[in-house]
Amino acid sequence: MLKGKKLGVIGVGKLGEALISGLLKQGALTTGDITGSVAHAASAERVNKKLGIEVSQDNRKVASGADLLILAVKPQNMHNVLVEIEDVLTPDQLVISVAASVTTTFVQKRLKKQIPIIRAMPNTPAVNNAGMTGLCGGLYAKDEHLKMAESIFKCVGEAVFVDESLMDGVTALSASGPAYLYVIIESLAEAGVKLGIPRDTSTFLAAQTMYGAARMVLESKAHPALLKDTVTTPAGCTIDGLMELEEGKLRVTLIKAVVKAAERARELVNNQDSVDS
Ligand SMILES: NC(=O)c1ccc[n+]([C@@H]2O[C@H](COP(=O)([O-])OP(=O)(O)OC[C@H]3O[C@@H](n4cnc5c(N)ncnc54)[C@H](OP(=O)(O)O)[C@@H]3O)[C@@H](O)[C@H]2O)c1
Repeated sequence: MLKGKKLGVIGVGKLGEALISGLLKQGALTTGDITGSVAHAASAERVNKKLGIEVSQDNRKVASGADLLILAVKPQNMHNVLVEIEDVLTPDQLVISVAASVTTTFVQKRLKKQIPIIRAMPNTPAVNNAGMTGLCGGLYAKDEHLKMAESIFKCVGEAVFVDESLMDGVTALSASGPAYLYVIIESLAEAGVKLGIPRDTSTFLAAQTMYGAARMVLESKAHPALLKDTVTTPAGCTIDGLMELEEGKLRVTLIKAVVKAAERARELVNNQDSVDS
C-alpha cells in the first residue's frame, strides 16, 4: 500500500527516527520517499547523516510534499505546528499524529478542512520491526485511511484499533511499556550479577527470557497465569521466587505504574489551555 507514496515526518526525534528506521529497514519506503523536519539545524544534520533522508527545519515544505504526514513533535508543540502547516494541507493527504494525549478533535479543529486524521500510539521497538501501535480514526478518516495507517505501522510491528477513549491507556501501557520492561530486564540482570554471572551474560539471559516469555504468550494465546504454572514445579525453586515477587507487590506496582502514567497522559492535555480533551 505504501508503494509510490511520499512520507513526511514533522519532528524526527526518538520516535520519528524509530519509525523511519523501521520503515527503511523493512524496505517499505526508500530514503528518497521520506522527508523530515526538526526544530534545530544541528538535529537536522545529525538525522540526515544517520537516516540518509532529507531533513530540514521547514515544516510547511515537508507537509505540502507529503501524501502521508506523521506529526511526531511533543504534545505541547502540536498547536503551533498545526497552525503553521494548516493552509498547505489538502483533504487528499492523510495526517497521522503520534503525540500522546492530543485528540483527533484537537488536530481537526486546527486543520479546519475535512482532512482525514489518524491518532496513533506506537512505541520505539518499531526500529526493530517489533513495535506495537494503537490506532483510531478521526471524523473524516475513512476505511481506506485506517487501512493505510495500519499498513504503515504493521510494517514495523503490530497494530490494533481501539476506541479513542482508550488511547491514554494504550499510551501508558504499550508506548511507555518498554521503559518498565527495561527496568525489569536490568533488575534481573543485576540479580544474575549478584549470583556471580558476568554482566553481559546476565543481561543476555534476562532479555532473551523476556523475549521468549512474550513469544509464548503471543503464540500459545494461553493465559499468562497458565504459562506461569507450567514453570512452577511443586516444591521447586520458582514458587519461592514467585512468593518474593508477591511480597514485594510486583503485580500491584505494575498496575499502579500504568494507571499513573495514563493519568499523566490525561494531565498533559489539561495542562495545555489551548487543547481540547
Ligand atoms: N518516545 C516514545 O517512545 C514515544 C512513543 C509514542 C509516542 N510518542 C510521541 O511522539 C512525540 C515525540 O516524542 P519523542 O520521544 O520522539 O520526542 P523527542 O525525541 O524530543 O522528539 C521531538 C522532535 O520534535 C522536533 N521539534 C520540536 N519542535 C518542532 C517544531 N516546531 N517543528 C518541527 N520539529 C520540531 C525536535 O527537533 P529538535 O531535535 O531539533 O529539537 C525533535 O526532533 C511525542 O508527542 C510523544 O508523545 C513518543
